[in-house]
Amino acid sequence: MIQEIARWRILFVCLGNICRSPTAEGMLRERLTQRDLATRVDVDSCGTGDWHVGEPPDSRAVEAAAARGIEIAGLRGRQLDLEDFATFDEILVMDSANLDHVMALKPTGARAEVRRLMSYAGQPEADVPDPYFGGEAGFQHALDQIDAAVEGLTVSLMRRVAASDA
Ligand code: 4NP
Repeated sequence: MIQEIARWRILFVCLGNICRSPTAEGMLRERLTQRDLATRVDVDSCGTGDWHVGEPPDSRAVEAAAARGIEIAGLRGRQLDLEDFATFDEILVMDSANLDHVMALKPTGARAEVRRLMSYAGQPEADVPDPYFGGEAGFQHALDQIDAAVEGLTVSLMRRVAASDA
């Protein structure tokens, strides 16, 4: 019997899709590659707003990620689409404003579960604050938070893959 190989689909959401969510996308891609899981998980990111559609990530986010070995310069901004609720298994938002926006759009019967990214760092109520209008320290703080949560998410995905393959 040919058994279909299970895959998971993860979408990160922030406001502009040029700072936090592309950073999370790049970091999860890197972690999955390191653990040989890249073919088992689809990863994407988007913004609730449309100001930066088609644009690369903010240069400060690109540099901060690169300093930690994460390459995100090739990503391009896109806006959250209603179809995302049917495509993705999990929609992981950065802050309360993203959560309110996403929950207001979420159709009944949506496939996607919506939660804060920081749930995966054991902080289900915590925001990853928007670093866009601040300085370098904000980007480093966001990276530290995203790093911790993406590690927890990666471990969760490893367990899900192992359980489905057992
Ligand atoms: P992000 O940061 O949501 O982490 O991508 C922002 C980027 C741009 C804007 C706001 C937040 N903006 O207002 O243009």
